Amino acid sequence: MKTLLSRRSISKLKEPHPNADEMEKVYQAALRAPDHSWLRPWRFIEVVGEGRKKLGQAFINSTKKTEELDEERETKIAALPMRSPMVIVVISKINHEKPNVPRLEQIQSTAAAAQNILIALHDMGYGAYWRTGKYSTERNEHISAELSLDKDDEVLGYLYVGTPEVEASKIPQLENNDYVTHWN
Ligand SMILES: Cc1cc2nc3c(=O)[nH]c(=O)nc-3n(C[C@H](O)[C@H](O)[C@H](O)COP(=O)(O)O)c2cc1C
Repeated sequence: MKTLLSRRSISKLKEPHPNADEMEKVYQAALRAPDHSWLRPWRFIEVVGEGRKKLGQAFINSTKKTEELDEERETKIAALPMRSPMVIVVISKINHEKPNVPRLEQIQSTAAAAQNILIALHDMGYGAYWRTGKYSTERNEHISAELSLDKDDEVLGYLYVGTPEVEASKIPQLENNDYVTHWN
């Protein structure tokens, strides 16, 4: 409960990122997401080091499919994945052959896996920030191809991961009563 109640999104992130042993545990936590019919729709691409340049290029290429980019904008887009030492691309591999498990449920399962990653990282002392920007499949139909994904793979977002550079700002305590009703 302490981990759950203290998790915050941290946008300012520095080295080090979690090592391979730590990420092994983090992905095991992700793979414990609830999953209707055990379709296992979750996929992740872990991007570090020079891989972030490749990701930036995928952002640029997918944007160029629908709009012109001048050099200044290209430079800005290329810098996006550099905001943290690690980026995890969150993908839902949609199985369209199971009418009892609609696409949305597979996306919900993948989002639950992403949340498990955020919680696991926070528990280990790392920071993370879930971003979509303009680069989720919902907002950019060309991004999957640029990431060499299959046509039914959907990108749900990017988890920027690293060591928190700053403490998270204070946020107001929310009241359960604003969100919960009781049927007795
Ligand atoms: C699916 C999803 C996509 C998001 N995309 C962005 C984004 O592109 N840019 C952004 O600043 N925040 C984005 N956010 C919000 C942050 O990840 C974060 O949840 C928000 O800043 C609230 O902070 P907190 O988690 O500490 O309450 C997104 C959140 C979700 C769940």
